[in-house]
Amino acid sequence: MADFKPSRVLVTGAGGRTGQIVYKKLKEKTDQYDTRGLVRREESKEKIGGADDVFVGDVRDVESIIPAIQGIDSLIILTSAVPKMKPGFDLTKGGKPEFYFEDGLYPEQVDWIGQKNQIDAAKAAGVKHIVLVGSMGGTNLNHPLNSLGNGNILVWKRKAEQYLADSGVPYTIIRAGGLQDKEGGIRELLVGKDDELLNTETKTVTRDDVAEVSIQALQFEEVKFKAFDLASKPERVGTPTKDFKALFSQITTRF
Ligand SMILES: NC(=O)c1ccc[n+]([C@@H]2O[C@H](COP(=O)([O-])OP(=O)(O)OC[C@H]3O[C@@H](n4cnc5c(N)ncnc54)[C@H](OP(=O)(O)O)[C@@H]3O)[C@@H](O)[C@H]2O)c1
Repeated sequence: MADFKPSRVLVTGAGGRTGQIVYKKLKEKTDQYDTRGLVRREESKEKIGGADDVFVGDVRDVESIIPAIQGIDSLIILTSAVPKMKPGFDLTKGGKPEFYFEDGLYPEQVDWIGQKNQIDAAKAAGVKHIVLVGSMGGTNLNHPLNSLGNGNILVWKRKAEQYLADSGVPYTIIRAGGLQDKEGGIRELLVGKDDELLNTETKTVTRDDVAEVSIQALQFEEVKFKAFDLASKPERVGTPTKDFKALFSQITTRF
């Protein structure tokens, strides 16, 4: 046992809503993982505890993320452009809120260039597995999320997914359904393909469950070179998923 070394993992977007769950869960498994986080801003670093293993860098600037990526075995990508609601929306007056992306932080820059930079840097550093968390809906160019803030977010995310699948680096692409901030580990998880789950009643998943799946993905060969949609049954319907090997064995799709 003396020469056992925990696997070195970096989670990017570690200050984000799912990223910080992944970072925390990984840090609880010191016997298995030597964990690093990457955040864009010092304040995000403080938010997740400010440890020395949290690097500050911007995925749009490849040089700034190389120190975090050097020496890791696996990378979990949880960065994403974040739409902001235009001020002045009043829920009580009805209507629809409008969204925008900040200058320079459009999906093209964050979800395409930013993810491409991470994949390129990881490949150059000899990273053995990249887990990319994306979104369901990418098969439909007219998906409403694409018109949000004029960002075409699903288009750019899918372009990055394709780039990863073509990179030659072992990968896992998790396309999550609508994310919920609810307790994880208590629902039956569902995997699918080609956005088929979007035509069912089960098209949401908790951020906690997405975080768990992205960590479990590090452990099973079955899920390498695979891409899949992820949702869950409602609570108390079905059997909570505990056997991730069995879940991953259901996935047949490479993209
Ligand atoms: N919302 C949904 O219902 C839904 C559904 C399916 C899939 N998804 C996808 O699931 C993933 C996780 O979503 P989430 O809501 O948990 O994420 P989130 O809270 O929006 O976090 C995204 C993170 O990316 C970071 N980031 C943005 N630009 C960056 C840059 N240039 N350099 C470094 N970091 C940068 C942000 O940091 P800053 O705060 O510092 O910018 C933020 O911490 C995303 O890919 C999302 O699109 C979401």
